[in-house]
Amino acid sequence: MTDTRPWTETKVVGTAQPRIDAHERVSGSAVYARDLVLPDMLHAAFARCPHAHARVKRVDVSKALAMPGVRAIITADSPGAKLPFYLTSKGPLSWLFDPHCRHEGEEVAAVAAETLHEARAAARAIEIEYEELPFVSDFEKALEAGAPALHEGGNRVGEPDRYERGDVAKGFTEAEAVVEMTFRTPCEIHTPMETHGSVVKWEGERLIIHDTNQGVFDLRSAYAQYFQLPLSNVRVVSEYMGGGFGSKLEPGKYTLAAALLSRQTGRPVKLFLSREETFLCVGNRPPNVLKMKVGAKKDGTLTALQLVGIGTGGAYPEGSDAGYLTSDLYLCPNVRIEETNVYINAGKARAFRAPGFPQGAWALEQAMDAIALKLGMDPLALRLKNVPQVSQRRGGVPYFSTGLAQCLQDGAKAFGWEEARKRPRGSGPIVRGVGVAAGMWGWDGDPRGTAILRYVADGSASLTTGASDIGTGTKTWMAMIVSEELGVPVANVHVHHADTDTTPYAVLSGGSQTVHVNSPTVRAAALDVKQQLLEMAAEQLNAEVASLELKDGVIADRTAPEKKVALKDLKRLSEQQTIVGVGRRRPHPKGKVGLPFVAHFAEVEVDTRTGEVRVLRLLGAHDSGRVMNPLTYRNQVFGGMTMGIGFGMTEARVLDRNTGKMANANWHDYKIPTAKDVPPDFACLPVDLHDTEFNSTGTKGIGEPATIPTAPAIANAVFHATGIRVTETPINPTQMARLLAARALRGVGR
Ligand code: MOS
Repeated sequence: MTDTRPWTETKVVGTAQPRIDAHERVSGSAVYARDLVLPDMLHAAFARCPHAHARVKRVDVSKALAMPGVRAIITADSPGAKLPFYLTSKGPLSWLFDPHCRHEGEEVAAVAAETLHEARAAARAIEIEYEELPFVSDFEKALEAGAPALHEGGNRVGEPDRYERGDVAKGFTEAEAVVEMTFRTPCEIHTPMETHGSVVKWEGERLIIHDTNQGVFDLRSAYAQYFQLPLSNVRVVSEYMGGGFGSKLEPGKYTLAAALLSRQTGRPVKLFLSREETFLCVGNRPPNVLKMKVGAKKDGTLTALQLVGIGTGGAYPEGSDAGYLTSDLYLCPNVRIEETNVYINAGKARAFRAPGFPQGAWALEQAMDAIALKLGMDPLALRLKNVPQVSQRRGGVPYFSTGLAQCLQDGAKAFGWEEARKRPRGSGPIVRGVGVAAGMWGWDGDPRGTAILRYVADGSASLTTGASDIGTGTKTWMAMIVSEELGVPVANVHVHHADTDTTPYAVLSGGSQTVHVNSPTVRAAALDVKQQLLEMAAEQLNAEVASLELKDGVIADRTAPEKKVALKDLKRLSEQQTIVGVGRRRPHPKGKVGLPFVAHFAEVEVDTRTGEVRVLRLLGAHDSGRVMNPLTYRNQVFGGMTMGIGFGMTEARVLDRNTGKMANANWHDYKIPTAKDVPPDFACLPVDLHDTEFNSTGTKGIGEPATIPTAPAIANAVFHATGIRVTETPINPTQMARLLAARALRGVGR
């Protein structure tokens, strides 16, 4: 009965609000799980396999156990330690401590000691005898006959994933221009500021986990199952969280080891990974090789798209597919995708900010650029020619709203595309160019959840939600919604979140769903409170609820202006002191789908003597529905695009050819973009369409779309500047110098 029609105008929502926990975050007083110190707490560390592929023959912990401060050591043989990982229909593929170590850094044992240094020293002192096995770290070689097999049945992860519509062969026959190119994207590593880890303790049969994760309820289910406990006996808390980007959705071996050590010692145990460990063991973006073929008519109408890809999620199953964009971003009747996923001796991949999409965009968006050139078309015009209004991937389901064309058009205008495209590239050693690339995100989220709002008699409010604020500003826009509906100042809304004991169920924060799944829930809770306030006023004023409205802290009767009461004078409120409002999420409306769209524009400068590429300008135009808070929205856009710069220009895992070990497993040798890599001219352009049907707040996701087309926009700009097509990430000086030298040898130097 509460009115959940979309907002027409808003006073607080859409205004720039600093984070409600900004002071805690910047002053260092916010307690992240990594900061947590519990009374009597032990510190733990893993002993890890140093080889790319090996079998553990013998583990001797006797010396380590006798070392100062050591309180417990667990290995594969310890009671309760045979915990399964990566379940398949034939059983688990691995264990917490698997004697068959399939990648460098696999866990072999864990130590708990009085101090972290004692724990790490003891972990190093555990005597482990390995039988080294032949390894494979190149995913194309992993498919060759005679390649070392990681699992029974070889290195192929099931049958290739196939998608097909129309008739691709016919589509290429009808094409008047065809391009066929091969793209490569090496592995990118998640490097969130807060490394992975947990602080765990048992209270009798209750397991308490303070953790850095993206969804406390999903992880509660996982840990309850591991320890055969009822859900209510597991508490997972993630109050402050220092980034995850998809790598903190899965149960951690660190959590399980800490729980076992805690049970054995009867003390809380903290197990956080070092930065170097996180490079090996807790996630990465799968590397891919993508063969892309595009066919089009002279007028730019696409006739066929084909993508054949191979990728690897490392030593255990993790999808490496990158084909979604090829199947859904542009209108095309004939599409064929075939993707093969293989095992190699490297750490398992995990979801990574728009899993598969930046890789897919790297291939599709450069191939689109190439075919535009072949057709003599502006790459922007080619894209605009092929904008769909339905999801072809879903068999023609219409979008609630599609801002793809608007992202391209408004973005081009704000960027000055036409003029920039015509500007001379420069005749000296330093040349300039501009490029564009588009994208979309492919998941509309899981709209479940409950929010509880307590409105207090003094006019303040306290919101309880299970959703995680993974560093994105979730708590802030939630407070803004309460403020919007009830007039409570944002500063007087307290948000308590992400604690399975004290907050109601919410879905994980991933898949760019947090805002559009949870904002209608929070709004419904606020509207429930509002309804109760109106009912109290109706009784007191002897009026009809339907004719009452709340404005500026006063409830007044639209039909009889003398009938009004300030909230603070509501008698029943002062008796009751607290009003509890409950908001629940409805399923998505049927028959349509709500997805965000994006276009990125880049201008680069290439020094043809050194191969150095500087990004001078970036503009991100996004259709993510309503902008709840421009400040945190911009944070997402700039953060996502900066990650796109990393993916496209600086980051790549290097596995040593001779040992299979990672050669750059640290923040010094693995280059993530810094302030010096982002352009001085960085622009965020929201295409604020206010979808009115998808949900009651008019929102869609922003986190993932913001990182999807940045790298190909930069690559297309590099091509515009130099005529060199960089098909492999990263576009770094090493690669550029090589490509420039190769061109000079061919005698076609600029
Ligand atoms: Mo994301 S990659 O669903 O956190």
